[in-house]
Amino acid sequence: MPPVRPASIPVLVSPALFPYKIQESQLSLVPFKATVCSLAIAAEFRCLQAQVAAASGHTVVLVDQSDEILKKSTKGIEESLKRVTKKKFADKPEAGAEFIEKTLKNLTTNTDAAAVVHSTDLVIEAIVENLEVKNELFKRLDKFAPDHTIFASNTSSLQITNLANSTTRQDRFGGLHFFNPVPMMKLVEVIRTPMTSQKTFESLMDFSKAVGKSPVSCKDTPGFIVNRLLVPYMMEAVRLFERGDASKEDIDVAMKLGAGYPMGPFELLDYVGLDTSKYIIDGWHSLEPNNPLFAPSPLLNKLVAEKKLGKKTGEGFYKYK
Ligand code: 3HC
Repeated sequence: MPPVRPASIPVLVSPALFPYKIQESQLSLVPFKATVCSLAIAAEFRCLQAQVAAASGHTVVLVDQSDEILKKSTKGIEESLKRVTKKKFADKPEAGAEFIEKTLKNLTTNTDAAAVVHSTDLVIEAIVENLEVKNELFKRLDKFAPDHTIFASNTSSLQITNLANSTTRQDRFGGLHFFNPVPMMKLVEVIRTPMTSQKTFESLMDFSKAVGKSPVSCKDTPGFIVNRLLVPYMMEAVRLFERGDASKEDIDVAMKLGAGYPMGPFELLDYVGLDTSKYIIDGWHSLEPNNPLFAPSPLLNKLVAEKKLGKKTGEGFYKYK
């Protein structure tokens, strides 16, 4: 297996969020229960991983299940690049324009994963948080990818080992967990399972550095580092509010001004998506039903049932225009 070459890795990113089924015939992803609004916004978040990889000189193929979604994703990347450029090249607009042009040149899109995976060194999967759907994708890509290709999942809550076991390349499989907003957040968690080879682990660490991030490593444990600490904290904030101990506005102000957090827990829950948070906590609750930190919240469940998922749907704990 050749080492990952930071400047020339073709990267396949699969950014789809809501439940997908894999179409047997062409190995592409087709939606079966998607809501168009959530899908477009969610995909926009996920495709920013492709942006940071392309911006750092990698050849990136962004894969999703329709040209329409890919068009929206590309638009999201262009908007995000403008934000990055505004700061990075504040006094040099020409250099900024060149940076955007170069980044976009490194990025192509495709709806057919099988058509691109054969020339890919690293696959970063960022599809819906559903073990079966992810496994179906990995199992099929495993048949078409070259031997040296490393598979990585951006899962925020599932066990990497359970995903790796759907392939024949458990030693070339790990976790690469990015944080929103991807262009701004410097961290990547690199997850190794007991089967991940040292070479794969080092390649994933090198890749994370090559895209300008600071990687940390963690064993394959629920939530890894950040979510294991962050999600129970946010759930505690919801419980504090549910008990009527303080208003959500005051809790947010308190954590921003008293603890120096950039966002309060309710702002962050809305930003991450209430469905994502519920998915994570429900998964952990089923693993450890007696752990009070993982107890489900009636209020969170109610908001999700009402499709108030946060910023992406216009309302969560707060309303957005
Ligand atoms: N693309 C590019 N740049 C972006 C961006 C994007 N999508 N979003 C924000 N930015 C940039 C802006 O351009 C701006 O740059 P500037 O300061 O040079 O002008 C900078 O970020 C700050 O943006 P804003 O002024 O709009 O807003 P804020 O100052 O409030 O910062 C924030 C926004 C960076 C999101 C900040 O509030 C923050 O750090 N929040 C916490 C985010 C966090 O905790 N993320 C982790 C979530 S958990 C997760 O992702 C794990 C998953 O598994 C659930």
